[in-house]
Amino acid sequence: MNIILLGPPGAGKGTQAQRLVEERGMVQLSTGDMLRAAVKAGTPVGLQAKAVMEAGELVSDAIVSALIGERMDAGTGSGAIFDGYPRTAAQADALDLLLSERGQALDHVIELGVDEDALVERIVGRFTCAVCGTGYHETFKRPVVDNVCDVCGASEFKRRPDDNEQTVRTRMAEYRAKTAPIIPIYESRGLVRRVDGMADIGQVTAAIESILDGR
Ligand code: AP5
Ligand code: MG
Ligand code: ZN
Repeated sequence: MNIILLGPPGAGKGTQAQRLVEERGMVQLSTGDMLRAAVKAGTPVGLQAKAVMEAGELVSDAIVSALIGERMDAGTGSGAIFDGYPRTAAQADALDLLLSERGQALDHVIELGVDEDALVERIVGRFTCAVCGTGYHETFKRPVVDNVCDVCGASEFKRRPDDNEQTVRTRMAEYRAKTAPIIPIYESRGLVRRVDGMADIGQVTAAIESILDGR
């Protein structure tokens, strides 16, 4: 099973991917997470990507497709969830090649439909556990005990440098200009399923799971 989660910044791609990992043993391939890890480690890719990400623009197609290929070679268990990739027509072509080289195919492209005005609130309220990376939100998904991670018990949290209103607007413009136009490519192949991303987190998960289960 190979699926793409598609949607603008803050649509819930990472949130839903984490739930599918926990519940189904699928593997999340998030180019955003991979790039942030590269920035943190100070690798050559990280050095190139840092300023681009802070501006909210897209990192080069060659870099992100190479990261995805490496991660696919490390194994994708019971299935891959592509989160934040592909984001351009060139990346969509690259993914087709990466899959076919490995004898695999895409099963579903799940588009999270959202209201752009709500996304700024989602993004500006977002934070993650500094130790295990679990995602939270000040209003929509607080830890059960204040200031303690539900998953690992840590009490240190962090925020992304690109999660400010100015950068979010650029990220949305990039999505509209470069990513939304790849949806028709997948529509012509009958792969796109649209889910209401404005519903509660659990309802969105249920809608995705019913697609994965062929319902
Ligand atoms: P990336 O990390 O992919 O960021 P993004 O696409 O902007 O998406 P986000 O991670 O912000 O949102 P999300 O959809 O995962 O939402 P989340 O689940 O966290 O990319 C970052 C940067 O890296 C890019 O700008 C670019 O520079 C570079 N990059 C990455 N991939 C690239 C590529 N392929 N090519 C080129 N460059 C690339 O949810 C947001 C918040 O809302 C959370 O707090 C969550 O708790 C809450 N929430 C989620 N769902 C709901 C719900 N249903 N109701 C209420 N709250 C909810
Ligand atoms: Mg994300
Ligand atoms: Zn944690």
